[in-house]
Amino acid sequence: CLLLLCSCNLNTKDARTISIGFSQSISEEDNWRKSMDNTMKVEASLHPEIDLTIYNANGSTKKQIEDIEKMIEKRVDVLIVAPYGSDSIVPVIEKANKKGIPVIIVDRKVNTSNYTAFLGADNIEVGHIAGKYIVSMSKAHANILEIKATTAISPSVERSLGFKQIIDQYPNIKKTTITALNLESINNEFIKVLDNEPNIDYVFAFNDIIALQAWEVAKRKGREKNIKFIGIDGLNDPNGGIQAVKEGILTATILYPTGGSEAIKLAIKLANKEIVTKNNVLNTILIDSLNADIMSNQFDRIAIQQSNIETQQN
Ligand code: AHR
Repeated sequence: CLLLLCSCNLNTKDARTISIGFSQSISEEDNWRKSMDNTMKVEASLHPEIDLTIYNANGSTKKQIEDIEKMIEKRVDVLIVAPYGSDSIVPVIEKANKKGIPVIIVDRKVNTSNYTAFLGADNIEVGHIAGKYIVSMSKAHANILEIKATTAISPSVERSLGFKQIIDQYPNIKKTTITALNLESINNEFIKVLDNEPNIDYVFAFNDIIALQAWEVAKRKGREKNIKFIGIDGLNDPNGGIQAVKEGILTATILYPTGGSEAIKLAIKLANKEIVTKNNVLNTILIDSLNADIMSNQFDRIAIQQSNIETQQN
């Protein structure tokens, strides 16, 4: 009787497939992007009705626009986009929106409001967290070097703005800012600063990759022990920010969640015609030597659950 019941349920199962197209902007050589893709794949694997296709633009806006055009052509049920820049992509996002395809923007912002939902951490808050940490650690007396990324991307602008809003309140904190366009430019620019400034107390970098690169440069100059390095992302992998905090290379990292699994959950709601909030903010937290172990244990538990899921699927 039980068997009969089971087969009956199988026969009546809704066979509808939800096609989700995801446009990733940066290659998986960037571990934060890889983590975003992986968490999306794992979340999608929990829902057999989902057909997830990931396109990677490898840092090219032109390719990202072409990828999105392809997904519009295919008429995916939901489009998720992790934009590279904020401007050039606007017409294709608006095109998808006009055609009635729900569009979820993750991480970086786009200069239009013609999309369905945004998902990401609050980068101004990230900048505030970094600023307040330095103020409290230094008792409001410090010489800081900020390493920003290009102003074409919203996290760089917002992290820097949030940081400035805090730091500017303290007259005994001095801040110099340089822009890192690639790893080579960090080397060149940071060496110049090190040569001109004998006392730098803190480096606040756009992300952990840049903070670690700056640490390498300082190490070559024998200055790494006198500077506290703070990054952003807080990945829990052997090359990530949490490990670097544990090893005492970074003083702190600020967790910047990728939102991979949340994006898939949001996409399912949209495919099922549920109403969703337009602005979906992910939580963030500062990780230093006090909580690095706790944070990585928490991530490890999630990773174990995820690997169990992957094994079951294989
Ligand atoms: O846009 C956000 C940034 O992009 C993450 O902090 C970063 O490391 C990634 O590549």
